[in-house]
Amino acid sequence: MEKSKHLHHLRTSRAVLVVVIKFCRAVQFDYFIMGRRNPTLSTLTIIIAAILFPGSFQLSQEAFVINIPRVSLGTAGHVNSSIIDFALSIGFTSFDTARATEWYSEDQLALSIAASSIPRSELFITTKIHPRDLGYNETMRAGRESAAKFIGGYVDVLLLHYPRCWEGLCGVGDYYKKGAWKESWRAIEDLRKEGKVRVGGGVSNFGPRDLEELGEISRNGGGDVVVVQDWCDPFHQSLPQQAFCSSQPSCTFQAYSSLGGQHLYQKPQENVVMRSKTLMEIAKSHGASIPTIVLSWQLQRGMAVVPRSTNTRHLRENISLLSTTITLTAQEIIAIEALEGREMETDERRNGEL
Ligand SMILES: NC(=O)c1ccc[n+]([C@@H]2O[C@H](COP(=O)([O-])OP(=O)(O)OC[C@H]3O[C@@H](n4cnc5c(N)ncnc54)[C@H](OP(=O)(O)O)[C@@H]3O)[C@@H](O)[C@H]2O)c1
Repeated sequence: MEKSKHLHHLRTSRAVLVVVIKFCRAVQFDYFIMGRRNPTLSTLTIIIAAILFPGSFQLSQEAFVINIPRVSLGTAGHVNSSIIDFALSIGFTSFDTARATEWYSEDQLALSIAASSIPRSELFITTKIHPRDLGYNETMRAGRESAAKFIGGYVDVLLLHYPRCWEGLCGVGDYYKKGAWKESWRAIEDLRKEGKVRVGGGVSNFGPRDLEELGEISRNGGGDVVVVQDWCDPFHQSLPQQAFCSSQPSCTFQAYSSLGGQHLYQKPQENVVMRSKTLMEIAKSHGASIPTIVLSWQLQRGMAVVPRSTNTRHLRENISLLSTTITLTAQEIIAIEALEGREMETDERRNGEL
């Protein structure tokens, strides 16, 4: 009886805390004070709110003091172990991989991590369930297998790579079970309880309808969504996915293909991000590169980033963003965000108009 009263009190406090934080985010509290987004201030808001509502901190510790690294190395394209070793040597501690051997080498990452002298507790591994392994038992097996590969026997975050599979990826088979991702989500939560997933679960490539259902599951005690990973560059910002993530109490939006990787997959030689006139001008005015501007914009907006690189100079440039980002002005942010959905910039460039 006492225990349930206590739990009720904690839940109420947590609900109040969620409202306070949502309010602060909605009115952009840190913009008021600093004139710009400031993660430290957002954390301060949370701490002040936790002090004002004693008791809430106990439950909220888990919910709010979740540290999803801001800069990780994306390892799609089978980034090899010598690059991972180099990345570890210059300060990368967080890595994005997946079970999909079509694009990633989870095994190689695990071997580099094992060979590194950096304690496992200082490293952060995100991996993803292949859509062929959707379903409760399949995800439990796949999640345990991935966790066992890494030193310590766990991964930090486990994402559902896609909400469903398709023939090109999974071949013909029973891969199209309706709503199988919901069973997988339940498995991720169980894997977290088992200690195979340290921080929690998230999703990638989920559309608004699936996210709505996921939000409902999460609200009903089905586990917090700690990461939403989606394609986000200035021309394709995944706004519904970002909005969903900000509506969750402990979610970090993680941008993938920030530097135009997806445009390249779709049209080789057509990386609209790297050829954007707007981005070039902003980069020039800061004496920086387009990648640094794009990644700084995302970090300033509170997103986490996972740029991939196999070039040592680029890797150094990207990891340096952990300590030094370019502070963009409000006008520059508006100009970057106005690129959403636009593809004309580079077409105009090709016609020599810019
Ligand atoms: N969840 C999903 O479905 C999904 C889908 C796609 C990607 N992802 C994740 O997101 C990661 C990144 O996305 P992506 O691989 O599509 O590519 P991306 O990060 O958009 O772009 C990578 C390209 O940018 C270049 N680059 C990186 N840093 C640079 C810098 N500082 N200056 C100049 N060029 C730079 C790299 O070339 P160099 O090698 O020459 O530096 C590489 O060609 C992936 O590796 C993966 O982990 C997830």
